Amino acid sequence: MDRICIVGGEPLKGTIPISGAKNAALPLMIASLLTSETLTLHGMPRLADVTLLGRILGNHGVDITIAGKRAGQSTSDGQTFKLTAAEIVDTTAPYEMVARMRASFWVLAPILARCGEARVSLPGGCAIGTRPVDLHLLALEALGADIELEGGYVIAKAPKGLTGNRIPLGMVSVGATHNALMAAVLAKGETVIENAAREPEVGDLATCLTEMGAKIEGIGTSTLHIQGVPSLHAAEHDVLPDRIETGTYAMAAAITGGDVFLKGARPELLQEALVTLRTTGVDVLEEEGGIRVTRNGHGLDAVTVETQPFPGFPTDLQAQLMALMCTAQGVSEVRETIFENRFMHVQELARLGARIDLKGDTALVHGVPGLRGAQVMATDLRASVSLIIAGLAAQGETTIGRVYHLDRGFDRLEEKLRKCGAQIERYSG
Ligand code: EPZ
Repeated sequence: MDRICIVGGEPLKGTIPISGAKNAALPLMIASLLTSETLTLHGMPRLADVTLLGRILGNHGVDITIAGKRAGQSTSDGQTFKLTAAEIVDTTAPYEMVARMRASFWVLAPILARCGEARVSLPGGCAIGTRPVDLHLLALEALGADIELEGGYVIAKAPKGLTGNRIPLGMVSVGATHNALMAAVLAKGETVIENAAREPEVGDLATCLTEMGAKIEGIGTSTLHIQGVPSLHAAEHDVLPDRIETGTYAMAAAITGGDVFLKGARPELLQEALVTLRTTGVDVLEEEGGIRVTRNGHGLDAVTVETQPFPGFPTDLQAQLMALMCTAQGVSEVRETIFENRFMHVQELARLGARIDLKGDTALVHGVPGLRGAQVMATDLRASVSLIIAGLAAQGETTIGRVYHLDRGFDRLEEKLRKCGAQIERYSG
């Protein structure tokens, strides 16, 4: 198993190119199931999750070609994927696949919409919480699907096709909104998704579906109106820049007291996350083509934050913020409202000298003067990158085990950090 070693204490200085967003790339790839024509996606990030989803879609009959590097392109430019689902050859998504990546559950809606039936394994729980799928099923039932649960599988049938309807989502769910959207675009008549997630990745999927011929109004708002169409067609789409990667490197620059330009980052995708960073005393400058983050010798101030659906502070940046707050002046209060078990980084940060008290859904981070390197273990994607952030600031060497979690969601992380002066190496075995 690979591990990453960091010798901390160096301020990060330079430019980090921001990759295409993992959480946009995955549903966009899945949307290719909705048409027999080719969906071309530019700016795809190089990630283990993208590779795995490619394999899963391949089982359903999606043909994927990845364009090679063209003259003048560097590895920091994303890849171009061409996905063609001329025919869906298998309507079952088996347990072995769905258990490895929760987002693959989202194939349910497009396969059902296109083939009139789908059999998809329940994703089950995962490290950050129980994560049920009731809202996904409610949405499909509202559109007339007949749903049964059998042997750990969701069996959805709509032999005469789906019919538009009102879908009132009881709570904000990114995945349920993706599923509802992908089902509704091919349903007969009008669908209204109420309390839709407003995350930029939902907007990116809706925009791409529109480019494929779908009729969607209200993109970016919590009410989506969809007029079903009989079929979708070929399209080309640029994947949105990754706001979570942006926020992560912003915090890495901040904790090391560095000065980093996040190339391609878009401030409007971060909203409350940027407000929070500024509250800590970090300078966040919106410049042409990206965002610059510097600290200019200013100490870090403690903050009180709770995670919320977009435009609130994202749960996917909670672990990274907590790492940043470890060396702030005073006590920060970080409340996690989206997932019930997303504090696994706390005990690992403690190995680096952090002082964090957990009280139910709230963590109290008591700022300490400095962190010290230690051996730690990655537990999930965002938790592992919080250890990288802390390791970059810690004195001495930090070794992080189980880094395969990082490879799921961070495109060439060591290379990007090394170019900004970080001492970071990966070792195999
Ligand atoms: C997406 O997960 C993201 N994953 C997550 O990113 C992200 O943390 C999450 O949205 C919240 O922003 C991808 O985009 C691939 P939800 P998703 O449905 O769609 C509850 C990362 O690190 N819920 O918005 O699975 C659920 O339990 C990952 O990149 C139900 O109760 O999240 C949670 O408490 C991790 N019933 C809340 O809603 C349902 O049917 C929000 O979950 C569905 C969800």
